[in-house]
Formats: sequence, structure tokens, C-alpha cells
Amino acid sequence: MSSTRKIVVTSALPYANGPIHIGHMVEYTQTDIWVRFQKLQGHECIYVCADDAHGTPIMLSAQAAGITPQQLIDRVKLEHEQDFADFLIGFDNFHSTHSEENRYFATYIYQQLKAKGHIATRTISQSYDPKAEMFLPDRFIKGECPKCGSPDQYGDNCEKCGATYDPTELKNPRSVVTGETPIEKDSEQYFFKLGDYADMLKQWTRAGHIQKEIANKMDEWLEDGLRDWDISRNAPYWGFEIPDAPGKYFYVWMDAPIGYLASFKNWCDKTGHNFDEYWSADSQAELYHFIGKDIARFHTLFFPAMLHGAGFRKPSAVFCHGFLTVDGQKMSKSRGTNIKARTYLDHLNPEYLRYYFAAKLGAGIDDIDLNLEDFMARVNSDLVGKVVNIASRCAGFISKKFDGKLSDSLSNDSLNQRFLSASASIAKDYEGREFGKAMREIMALADLANQYIDEQEPWVRIKDEAQQENVQDTCTIGINCFRQLIILLKPVLPQLAAQAEAFLNVGDLQWADLPNNLTAHSINRFKPLMTRIEKDRIEAIIEASKETTAPAAATPVIDSSIDPIAPEISYEDFAKLDLRIARIVAAKPVEKADKLLQLTLDIGNEQRNVFAGIKSAYKAEELEGKLTVMVANLAPRKMRFGLSEGMVLAAGPGGDELYILNPDTGARPGMRVK
Ligand code: 2FM
Ligand code: ZN
Repeated sequence: MSSTRKIVVTSALPYANGPIHIGHMVEYTQTDIWVRFQKLQGHECIYVCADDAHGTPIMLSAQAAGITPQQLIDRVKLEHEQDFADFLIGFDNFHSTHSEENRYFATYIYQQLKAKGHIATRTISQSYDPKAEMFLPDRFIKGECPKCGSPDQYGDNCEKCGATYDPTELKNPRSVVTGETPIEKDSEQYFFKLGDYADMLKQWTRAGHIQKEIANKMDEWLEDGLRDWDISRNAPYWGFEIPDAPGKYFYVWMDAPIGYLASFKNWCDKTGHNFDEYWSADSQAELYHFIGKDIARFHTLFFPAMLHGAGFRKPSAVFCHGFLTVDGQKMSKSRGTNIKARTYLDHLNPEYLRYYFAAKLGAGIDDIDLNLEDFMARVNSDLVGKVVNIASRCAGFISKKFDGKLSDSLSNDSLNQRFLSASASIAKDYEGREFGKAMREIMALADLANQYIDEQEPWVRIKDEAQQENVQDTCTIGINCFRQLIILLKPVLPQLAAQAEAFLNVGDLQWADLPNNLTAHSINRFKPLMTRIEKDRIEAIIEASKETTAPAAATPVIDSSIDPIAPEISYEDFAKLDLRIARIVAAKPVEKADKLLQLTLDIGNEQRNVFAGIKSAYKAEELEGKLTVMVANLAPRKMRFGLSEGMVLAAGPGGDELYILNPDTGARPGMRVK
């Protein structure tokens, strides 16, 4: 084997405001297989990732959910980690871009670039929502496409005709946050002068670090002349404030890739490794980023330039992959093909999908299709019908007739030798990310093993006393073929491999174990290692993933915990109520009052002091910043602790269970509820 390599590998960081879906899983599976292959070869290969936890969408999602961004990203991180673990993605570290390590590196890189003159500031005009009092990212402006007139298109491109444009070009633009017409507003921004690195990037993108198709695409940018990149955003923004620039934050795409360094540093601190050995400009370690082709520009232009400018090493390579389609079409919520990782896991073994993706993946950037019929057929035929079948055909004879013992030697090792010689080309395919080719070669070997067993007919020969030894030989060869197949498939099917190791009664198999056939060795009783995919499982996944726009008709069931509807009132009576959106700006417990919290409520033009009986349901600190609804024209009530100037609305079945009301995104303090 070649000498031990030191390798760092990353997958793109998933946004911390949504679930992982099977589209994401293409990349994590691809990376994980590659990493497991390197580890199996005996190399040091460290796989790090993190949640991408900053930006406007996360800030607004948290606001809509009535929680802080920190609460949102903490919750999502746990969900992501569980999804990845259950899909057998073996990260060495999973961190967050909202971490101290990332703040340190983002700040450090920025300061290095600034000190060397690669940061410029200038005043630019951007779309601004005067109601929400915030600048709007392109995706938060919608309107009619300036090219084809399609309504409801985002501010950066048209999903109907594919045109790309500036948000200012949209016809009848409106803010997604409030529905207001955005205005143009000036503000000072910070730019990374990417053009300073044009020569370096022209050379680097053509030096074998990126795929040809991607290099060609990047050429379009390089030839157009690299424009300065705006790396700042105005408050309110969820991210890191730029040092010496109050009210300005690093743009999420500035600190996201730096999250790779942050996660790696976090791993170094936990394990006692030396960060510089991997990331200094003269590092001998290899560094690979696996990403989707849609984010190539960030990883093959902006990020290498930032790393280079700040004195870090650049990636050894950036590997792009294509998108996932399901049954030949874009994933769709109405068709039920926008499948969350968790929904898949609720119904099927993750290794089925890992194998199918492996069988479809190559080194290029073509999209890959999950054809559900083909998925079922291929998994059932290859994994269950070919690979596992070899063990099940041989193990029974070994257990029943030979007391679980394999023969003392292989009467003929040509088949196992053949598997061994095929492993070199399979290794080359794994290394080159040609997993589809590797799977085909492995299945061709499985076919050979099955043919061999067919020809030997152990089930016939076992009946003849004189041929018993022969049957033990055949089955020993078969079991050794199975063992070799398991090693070859271990990067793709780590769970099956662990079960097979237990059955074979061997330790953690490595690639280097391929030639070490098992002889005079006791194996354990065979239990079915993998079952067939049944069609109803796939149907259940599709059904569970369907999102219809109209809610399903409710079945009328009388729930006695629900209060009966109160007697009818006139509209005039209702109109007397003045309900307002209120922001809870402060909340604290009231001494000597078990149930009360004292709230300071902002209702636009004034603040109100309200005592609310919600202490059993909420901690004071989790309420601060939340929006809720209050009755603003309720006569003030003098209480033992002070004057209560209104009432907060909360729902509950009685007792301690209470839920304050939260308005939808976009509502602001002072708005009247009508
Ligand atoms: O496109 C995305 O989903 C981003 N969250 C990927 C970030 S990768 C890296 F730059 F952090
Ligand atoms: Zn259009």
C-alpha cells in the first residue's frame, strides 16, 4: 500500500433552517463513501461539516416561529445530526458556523485581507423594506419577470423563463416580508476585491483542482473580469458583526466556507491535533471539498482567493456533483417526491439508498435520477439476490454439516485470487469517485461467485457421503468470496459490513485483508442480513411526503377538552375590542406571585405594563423578543404589584397548559388585529 496520506474532507454545510432531504443525501453519501474508502485503505481521513447557521432566512424563520435564532439553530442542529447519523454519515466532527471558532477565523481572514488592501468600502443603493426597516435579499423580493412577465418571480431569476436580473428590474416588486413596495436606499458596504486574485485564480482553476466543466464555467466569470464581492450586510442581520464596523455583519456566504476551518479547529481541540499541519500555506495534507454544482463559484473563486489572501493553503480539489431528480423530474411536494431524510428513514433501510446512489454516481456533474421502480429492482436483485445470497447459500451447510467450521485450506483459490486482482481497479474507481463503475465490477464478481455455487451444486453433493468434504470446500470458497465482497462494499454499506463481520466472526475488516482468506475458522450461525424492499414501503414514503395545498377535511370528533363556543355576539361588539400586535421587550417574574410574569409590551407608539398569568408555561427569558397579541383597550386594572394595562392573549385547555398567540411573519408591533 502507498504511504499513509493525511486527508481533510468536507461536504457543503446545510442551512440550519430546514430539514435534510434526499436531494442533500446524494452529496453526503458520495462524500461519506469516499471518506470511508480512504479510511479502509488505512489513510488518515478527517471528515468535517457544520450547520450553515447565519443569514436573513434564518433570522426571519426564527421570528416567525416566535423563537430566537439561537434556539432555532440549536434545534435544527440536533435534527440534522440525527438524520446524518441514521444515514450512516460518519462525520469526524459536525459543528456550526455560529461558533467561536468561526467568529475567530472569519474575523482573522477579514483582517488579513483588509491589512493587505483587499477590502474596499463604498456606498451602494439596495432594496429596502420601509415597513420592516430592513434591507431585502434578492430572494425576499417578488414581482413580475422583466423578460417574460410571469408573476410571482424572485428578485434574482425567473423560474419560468430562466432569465437572471437585478431585483430593481422586477415589475411591481414587493417585499416578501411585509408585502410593501421596496424602496432604494443607500448604505456603505464592504467589498472583497476578488479581481486582485484574477491571475492566481486563472492559473489555479486550470491546474487540475476542479473538473473541466466547472473550469469552463468559471472561465466565463474570469473573462468577464472579476467584480468586487459584497461581503457585508446591514443590521438587522443574524451573523457576526464586522470588527470596527458597527451595524454591519459578514454576509452568510462569507463565513459559511470558513466554517470548514472552524469545524476542523473544533475537531483539533477535541482530539489534540495541530490545525496548522492541515491548513497552513505549506501544508502537506490534502484537502477536498464535495459540493453541488450550483455553489461552485463560491468554492472555486471566492473561497480559494480568501484562503490564499489570508495565508492559508488552498483546496487540493473541489468535487462538484449534479442534482437529484426523482422518476426523471424535479422533486415535487405535490407528487410526494420531495422526500425528507427522516421520512425515508421512517420506512426504509438507509443502506438501500446509499447503494442506489453509489450505483448511479460518477465523477462528473450530471444530474442523477432516483427511479423508484429501478431502485427497488436493483437493491433487491444486487444486494439481496446476489451478495447476501452467497452467504445464505453457503452458511447453512457449514453450520449444519461442519459444525460452523470452514475447511482447513482452499482446494482452489483461483476465484478468490480473481476477486483480489479485481480490487485494484475497484480501488481506482472509488478513488476517482466512479462509484457506479465500482458497483458494476463488484456485482460482476458476485455473479461469478453465484455461478460457481450453481456449478458446484452443494445441495446435490451433500447427499453423497463421499462428497462431503467437497461441499465444505465449495462453501468455504463461497464464504470467502462473500467476505471479499463485503470488504469491497464496506464504504457503501458499513452497517451490512458490521453484521457480516459478526457472522464471519472476524474483527473490523480492512482493504488490506482482501488476500487473507479464512480457513480452519469457525463462523457464526447465519441470520438474514438484509431483506427485500417491498413496494408498499415506497408508496408509504410518497404518501407521507405529499403536501397538498388544501387541508384534508377534518373528521368531526368531539374533544371534551375543547371549550364550547360562547354565545353569539354582534359585529359591533367585536369591533369594540382593540387587539394589537405587541413585542415582549422585557419579561420578569413577579415576587410573591406564583403564576404571574410582568411583561413590558411594545405596541408601536407606546409601551404597556401587563401582568400575565403565564408563569407556569413560560420562563421569563424565553419570552423576550417574541411577538404576541394583546387587548389594548381593556380598562387598566390595579393589582397588588402595580397597574396592569391590558391583557395578553393565550390559548389552553385550562390548568397550567398555556400558549401565547404568535402572529405570522411580517406582523409588527402596533398593527391592529381585525
Ligand atoms: O447552498 C447551501 O446549502 C449552503 N448552505 C452551502 C454552504 S457550503 C459552505 F460554503 F459552507
Ligand atoms: Zn421570465
